[in-house]
Amino acid sequence: MFSRRVSLLVLLSMYVFLLAERVTGQEHGPRVKVFAAEGGDAVLPCSLSTKQNIQPELFDWKDYAQKEVFMYDAGVHYNNGRPGQDEHFRGRVFHFEEDLKYGNASIIIRPAKITDSGNYTCIFPHLQPSAQKFHVELVVDRTLKDRSGEISGASPKPYISILNETKDWSRLQCEVPGASPKPNVEWKDSAGNLLPAEELQVSSRGDHHYVTVLTTVTKTDRVRCVVTQEEILHQTEAETFVFISGSLCEDPSNKVDIVGWLLIGGVLGAAILVVVLFVLVATKFITIRRNKGSGQQREDSASSKDPVKLQIL
Ligand SMILES: *[C@@H]1O[C@H](CO)[C@@H](O)[C@H](O)[C@H]1NC(C)=O
Ligand SMILES: *[C@@H]1O[C@H](CO)[C@@H](O)[C@H](O)[C@H]1NC(C)=O
Ligand SMILES: *[C@@H]1O[C@H](CO)[C@@H](O)[C@H](O)[C@H]1NC(C)=O
Repeated sequence: MFSRRVSLLVLLSMYVFLLAERVTGQEHGPRVKVFAAEGGDAVLPCSLSTKQNIQPELFDWKDYAQKEVFMYDAGVHYNNGRPGQDEHFRGRVFHFEEDLKYGNASIIIRPAKITDSGNYTCIFPHLQPSAQKFHVELVVDRTLKDRSGEISGASPKPYISILNETKDWSRLQCEVPGASPKPNVEWKDSAGNLLPAEELQVSSRGDHHYVTVLTTVTKTDRVRCVVTQEEILHQTEAETFVFISGSLCEDPSNKVDIVGWLLIGGVLGAAILVVVLFVLVATKFITIRRNKGSGQQREDSASSKDPVKLQIL
């Protein structure tokens, strides 16, 4: 009697458990965290591990307040006539039509707003054998900062090394040891000016990019190699002090002085030459005129330039 009751209870609880399993479906944890820049693209990932074609399926994205973000049902969705999307998301949420074939129900929010930040769920309520639910946390931010601890693909600090140097220049290398998405790597001087990056080597292993950027520094300065991943609002940098001995030995102001004096000398010399030539030509002209008309008025007279006055005279 007692054992029958126990087994009945066990059976009942198993049934309840199975029922619960069917209702809530399979939960996929842990929560994926996604970062996006304000005004940029926010891709919220949601993919079935089976990679089955979901074109004929239903999936639904909701935010933490159960607002309707995006619903797709066998080709009918919020961007082609389905009503019910929340006002806040209207015209900003798109799915990836081409990726549906591979079980990819990811969406993109564009442009992302600060108020889009929060937790989202992607649910396949009718999927066989069981419903599926995915969690995504979105952080929309407007500041670039070091997020190397927060996000797996964020680049660690880059590594600077001296490739070669002479007394006049130093060739530096900046290495980024694996980052995803592909980072932008720049060299900057102490004033924040961009230094010309001379060579770019990029290799990829899986999603991770290995980037090497070279620059040549020709004066003593503190330079930085700055790594930016705009998509995840991540920025990190390494700094080094470069000493160029050649830039101390020669005083650059001396050079400028010599060039300056040479220029001034040249201009002065030319001017004197022009004046001398002019005087020579002028005297010759006046002499000729004097010889030609002895009783005539002088055109070189400084007192009058008026032709009428000349006639009267
Ligand atoms: C799903 O599609 C999006 C957009 O094409 C892509 O960024 C993402 O990597 C895809 N996810 C998987 C697991 O293939
Ligand atoms: C999202 O959910 C996680 C875990 O439940 C929680 O710690 C976090 O604060 C939530 N984020 C927001 C923006 O509500
Ligand atoms: C450094 O530069 C000098 C002169 O250009 C060259 O002879 C030397 O091989 C270079 N060294 C390295 C390690 O590249």
